[in-house]
Amino acid sequence: MKFAVLTGGGDCSGMNAFVRAVVRSSLNIHPETSVIGVLDGWKGLIYNNYRKLDKLSVAGITSAGGTILGTVRVPELATDSSLLETTARNLHDNRIDYLFVCGGNGSIKAANAILGLIQSDKIKTKILCAPGSIDNDVCNEYGSSIGFYSALDKSLEMLEWIRDTASSHRRVYLIKSMGRASAYLAFYAGIATGAEYVITPGEDVDFEKIATMVDERDRDTRIIVAEGYEQDLPQIRETLETIFKKRDIRHEIRTVDMSYFQRGGNAAVTDILRASWVAYRMVVDAFNKCDSGFYTAYYTGHMPRVIPLNIAADDNQTSHPGIPEAIIDLALALR
Ligand code: F6P
Repeated sequence: MKFAVLTGGGDCSGMNAFVRAVVRSSLNIHPETSVIGVLDGWKGLIYNNYRKLDKLSVAGITSAGGTILGTVRVPELATDSSLLETTARNLHDNRIDYLFVCGGNGSIKAANAILGLIQSDKIKTKILCAPGSIDNDVCNEYGSSIGFYSALDKSLEMLEWIRDTASSHRRVYLIKSMGRASAYLAFYAGIATGAEYVITPGEDVDFEKIATMVDERDRDTRIIVAEGYEQDLPQIRETLETIFKKRDIRHEIRTVDMSYFQRGGNAAVTDILRASWVAYRMVVDAFNKCDSGFYTAYYTGHMPRVIPLNIAADDNQTSHPGIPEAIIDLALALR
């Protein structure tokens, strides 16, 4: 059999463990298997940019951040039918039996669109996808995505550093978190570090109330701002400073952006193990000639339920529209 492995969208820690597990499982179970890595994500599939992978080429990478295969965003892929056709044709011409994908929302949607063409053109390639994203917005009714807990670990570390300086100076810190329109990363990091407030996308923020909270606190106040919130850090700072001045609240405000730092660094052990487990299950299923699908898995050892890609690509069916009530209750209970 011939396998290809691709990492798409924003990189995240855990992708390398996924790649390694695909390569090692394939070659250990059936040494005659040919495994190629698609370079630079979906772009590599459009331009036929591959690298043959053997057991040595994936040695020592499980915990390394980023992706050794590279990833380039190709937003046009979602809408440009000629690009989709090129990709489907390349999979056919290169005689790929299975394409293993680890990626976020955009990758799952691209995979689903390509699969539609593959099926109508009777191309035999199958596509198996795993969720890989720090945003945790890929099919999040089916467990967290690979990379989410690694990014949370980094966020927690940075937020604790900020606490040190914030409490020393009795300052307010506005801290930006990545996570796109999903506030998962910001919200969970807020719970884990015990931040005073997390501003989420679309929220009608009561800044007067935040000012009262700051006024009543003695030392540090850390307010995390989720990426999708409509105002940027300088705008929020200005709003709060105006209120502070009017109400004679004497706390200084500083801003800091954690964004790209959250995405890098070593993978969390949970992400390494789960990425390895899901990839291994995919390979076993591929050798058993399984159909295309999206692999959900909550934890290592949990038998992934495989759901059709068209369901995985449909946010209305598979993603929580917002942070679940139970998690909000948890956050409130810990304040
Ligand atoms: O999807 C992952 C993510 O890190 C988001 O949180 C963020 O909005 C985006 O990627 C940033 O993308 P880029 O690396 O293209 O700037």
